[in-house]
Amino acid sequence: MTDNDGEADLEARLVEQERFEPPAGFVEQANVADESIYEEFEENWPHAWTRAADMLDWDSEYSQVLDDSEGPFYEWFADGTLNASYNCVDRHVENGDKNRAAIQWEGEYGETRTYTYQDLYREVNEFAAALRDLGVEEDDVVTLYMPMVPELPIAMLACARIGAPHSVVFAGFSADALATRMNAADSRYLITCDGYYRRGDPLDHLQKANDGLGGVDHGVDATVVVDRLGEDGFGHDLKGNQHDWDALLAEHTGARVDPVERSAEDMLFLMYTSGTTGQPKGVKHTTGGYLAYTTWTSHAVLDLEPEDTYWCSADIGWITGHSYIVYGPLSLGTTTVMYEGTPDFPERDRLWELVEKYAVDVFYTAPTAIRAFMKWGSEFPERHDLSSLRLLGTVGEPINPRAWKWYYKHIGDEACPIVDTWWQTETGGMMVTTLPGINTMKPGSAGPPLPGIDARVVDASGEEVDAGRAGYLTVDRPWPGMLRTLYQNDERFVNEYWQEYSDPDADEWVYFPEDGAKIDEDGYITILGRVDDVINVSGHRLGTMEIESAIVGVEGVAEAAVVGGDHEVTGEAVYAYVILEDGYEGTDEMQDAIIEGVNEAIGPIAKPEKVIFTPELPKTRSGKIMRRLLEEIANGEELGDTTTLRNPEIVEDIQVKVSD
Ligand code: PRX
Repeated sequence: MTDNDGEADLEARLVEQERFEPPAGFVEQANVADESIYEEFEENWPHAWTRAADMLDWDSEYSQVLDDSEGPFYEWFADGTLNASYNCVDRHVENGDKNRAAIQWEGEYGETRTYTYQDLYREVNEFAAALRDLGVEEDDVVTLYMPMVPELPIAMLACARIGAPHSVVFAGFSADALATRMNAADSRYLITCDGYYRRGDPLDHLQKANDGLGGVDHGVDATVVVDRLGEDGFGHDLKGNQHDWDALLAEHTGARVDPVERSAEDMLFLMYTSGTTGQPKGVKHTTGGYLAYTTWTSHAVLDLEPEDTYWCSADIGWITGHSYIVYGPLSLGTTTVMYEGTPDFPERDRLWELVEKYAVDVFYTAPTAIRAFMKWGSEFPERHDLSSLRLLGTVGEPINPRAWKWYYKHIGDEACPIVDTWWQTETGGMMVTTLPGINTMKPGSAGPPLPGIDARVVDASGEEVDAGRAGYLTVDRPWPGMLRTLYQNDERFVNEYWQEYSDPDADEWVYFPEDGAKIDEDGYITILGRVDDVINVSGHRLGTMEIESAIVGVEGVAEAAVVGGDHEVTGEAVYAYVILEDGYEGTDEMQDAIIEGVNEAIGPIAKPEKVIFTPELPKTRSGKIMRRLLEEIANGEELGDTTTLRNPEIVEDIQVKVSD
C-alpha cells in the first residue's frame, strides 16, 4: 500500500481537521478532567508535587518537597524513605489485589505467562534473596542485559528491593556496548538470558553477553542466565560464576527479603543514553522523585486504573519501558502487557490480535510503528475487535498529522483520545502532552506542558519566541522525575544540560533538552527534533559520534561523518559519508565491513541505511565538517549557504553519489 492509498483511506473530513476534542465518553471517566489542575500547580508550586508523592507509600514521610539550595543538583522529597519494589508489588498484595494480573507476557509464538501480583511478589523476593547470596549489596550496580522476558522486570524489582541500582542494557545492543556500559558503571554483576526469538528464529544472546564480559576491565563477581530457549538453545555451558536463573530460584523457594528502606534521593537505576560525544551518558534516576513522577503521569496522562490492561509496545531496554511498562503501571497496580516479538510476525496483525485477546484498554507506541502499520494497510487492524481501547499514546519522535489521524481512525475508531508525549531518558517521564480528559488535540503538536512543567520555546539568547516561530525547547523549573546527575560525572551533567540558558551567578538554572520546537498561540508545543548530534531512528536515540567512531574503527576507513536523513517509516535513517585510506576502494565488501563494524560496536539499530564513499567531506575553512549540508544532501533538499566551505566543489560530487 502506498502513502497515497493511506491518504485515500482517511476521509477528507479527517485529513483537513486540525483540532479534535476529547471524546465525551472518555472525559466522563477520566482520572483528571478538571482543568483547574494547571492553576493549582501554578499557584502551589512546588508544594503541588505532593500530589504525585502522595500516590506512593512512604516508610517515613518527607518534610520538604524540593530542596533547590544547590541547583542544578535539585533534591525532591529528600528526607523521605521508601522502597520502589514495595510500592510496585507488596502494597497491592496487601491491599487485596494479590490475584490481579501484574504482568501478562506473550512470547513470539503465542506462549503466554501470567504473573499475578502474588506471583510477582514471590519471584521478586526469591530473586532478591538470590542476588544477596551472590554477594550483591546495597548500591552495587547490577547490569541487566535481557530481552522482553518477564524475568527482566522481576530482576529490576528485585534489585530495587535490596537497594541495588540496575543498569539495563538494551538486548539489541552489541557485546561492545555491553562492555562499555559495565565498565562505565563499574558493575560486577550481570543478569542475562540464553536467547530469545525474533521472526521465528532463536537468537544466541548468551554468546554476545559472554563476548561483552570479555571486554569488562574489572572482575565480574556473578552472572545469572535465564533459560528462555530450552531445547532451541545454543548449548553454551555455564562457566564458573555463571548461574542458572531457575536453579537459583529453586534454591530460594519461599525466601522473603524485607524491602530496604531507601532515601528518596537514593539511586533507583542508571540508564545509558547517547549524547554528542562517543561516550554514552549514565543518566541517574532516584527512588522517590522518579517513582512519584512516573506514577503520577501514568495516572494523569495514560489514565491508568488498577482494573486496566495496559500495553506499551516499547522495549524495557529503553526509558519508555522502564517508566511506562514497569514502574508507573505497576506502582498503580495495573496489568501491564509484555510482548517478546515484532509487530509483523507471524503476520502483520500481531499487535491487534493481542489487543483483542487481552482486551487492552490503553495502548502506547511509537510513531515509527504507526507509520509502518499505515503502510501495511488498515485491513490488518480491521481483522480484530479493538473496541476495548479507551486511550492511545505515542512517544519517541515527532508524529506527522497523517499518521496521527490514521491511528485515531483505524486503531481508535475516533473514540479514543491520543496523547503525543514528549519526554526523554533524562526527564524520567512525560513532560509535554495534552491531558486526555481536558485538552483539545492538535495532530502533530504534542500539546501544552504538563501541569507544573515550565517548558518554553526560546531563541538563541533565551528570549521566548513568538507563536509560530521555531526556537529551542527549555524547561525553567525542576520536576521530580528529572535526572539528578550523570553517573560519577557532575561536571558533564552541568555542561550537557545546564550551560546554554542558565545564569549560575544569579542561581538561575534552565534545563536544555537539545530539542528544537515551536509554540502556537494556545501554548501548544510542536517538537522539531534534536539540535545536537543525536539522531532518532525508529524512536531510538543514537549518537552520530558513536557511529562515526565505529566506522573509523573499520580497516581502511580514514574519516567518517554520520547524519540523520529523513525516512518514511523510521523517521530518520543513518547516512554515513566515508573517506577511505589510500589503496582502499568503495566496494560492496567495504560497505559490508562498515555495516558490520557498526553492528559490532553498537548493534543492528545503528546500521547505516546508506554508505556514501567520497574523497573529501565538505568542511568549513576552520576544518569543521558541515553536517547541515550533509543532512540536506541526504534529504535531497535544496542546499543552504555553501560560501563558507573551503572545498565547495565536493558538494556536487557527493550529491550525485547519494542520488545513485
Ligand atoms: O528528540 C526528542 C524525541 O526523543 C528524544 C529523547 O529520546 P530518548 O531519551 O531516547 O527518549 C525517548 C522516549 C521518551 C527527545 O529529545 N522525542 C521523544 N518524544 C517525542 C520526541 N520528539 C517528538 N515528539 C515526541 N512526542
